[in-house]
This record gives sequence, structure tokens and C-alpha cells, in this order.
Amino acid sequence: MALLRIRTYPDEVLKKKSAPVEEFDGALQKLIDDMIETMYAAPGVGLAAPQVGVSKRLIVVDVNMRESEHKYPLLVLINPVLAETEGEVESEEGCLSLPGLTGTLPRAEKVLVRGIGREGKPARISAEGLLAIALQHELDHLDGILILDKLSPLKKSFYKKKLKKTPSMRG
Ligand code: NI
Repeated sequence: MALLRIRTYPDEVLKKKSAPVEEFDGALQKLIDDMIETMYAAPGVGLAAPQVGVSKRLIVVDVNMRESEHKYPLLVLINPVLAETEGEVESEEGCLSLPGLTGTLPRAEKVLVRGIGREGKPARISAEGLLAIALQHELDHLDGILILDKLSPLKKSFYKKKLKKTPSMRG
């Protein structure tokens, strides 16, 4: 396994809509293992393939570090789709690709996500709480959407100015 470099804003790969995964080969399995290791090392509760420079529809999520109930296992989802949503909550989020930024944005309270597991079988995840938020956050990455895009124009321009002043934050 290997740690991958996490791409940070304004890296172009973060703005692209990712392509579906079509080949379930050894390279995909290695990418999954490397993404899991990179997520834990960051540390983060989720990581989407574009964040490590791969424009493919693949996410890994593990909220156990932040969720005291420890009721969800590590999830690997390939070509995930948000199938159903319910309710609305205000969510405070940060992103490994946006160092130093946190913001509050609306999210669905409960979600049903369908996709494919790493072994190629259909997967169906019904989630609420932090896992529901993390899934929505990572799914957005696959469509080139960052939490920065969902915050107020004022907050966005403030963050961009802050980045210019501190080039080291570009990672
Ligand atoms: Ni993120």
C-alpha cells in the first residue's frame, strides 16, 4: 500500500465530473487500498478518487473515528448513486482538499445510496447521521462539487484571498 497525494483546491481534477469505473481489475483494488490508507493517515472520514487525482467514480468512507456508536463498517463504493433522500439538516463540514476551511451547508438527513462494492457485487447503504453527511459530501466530489461551491459568495472569496496570502496552504 502507498499514501497518495491529496489534491487541494484549485486543482483542476477536483472540478471535473468523474467517469464510471468499468474495469474491476488489480489496479482498481490497489487504488482502493491506497485510498483507504490515505484517508486514515490524513485523517479523514471519507475520500473520493478525484481527491487523489483519479477522475473515477469511487469513494471510501469510515466515520467510526467520529461516530461513537461504531455502527457502520468501512465502506467502499464504486459508481455510487444517491437513490433516495429524506429530511434536511444543517451540516458543518470540512474537506481534505480545502485546508483551513469549514462551513455550514444543508444536507439530507437520511440517504439511500446504491453502488457496487469492491468485490463487484451490488451494494445498498441506508444511512443517517454523520455517515449520511459523509456519503453526500463524497458523492459531490464525483460531480466536481466542493463544499466551497455551496457556501456563500462572501465565504468563497474570503477563502480564495486567504489562499493567496498563504501559498503553503496549496499543498
Ligand atoms: Ni471533501
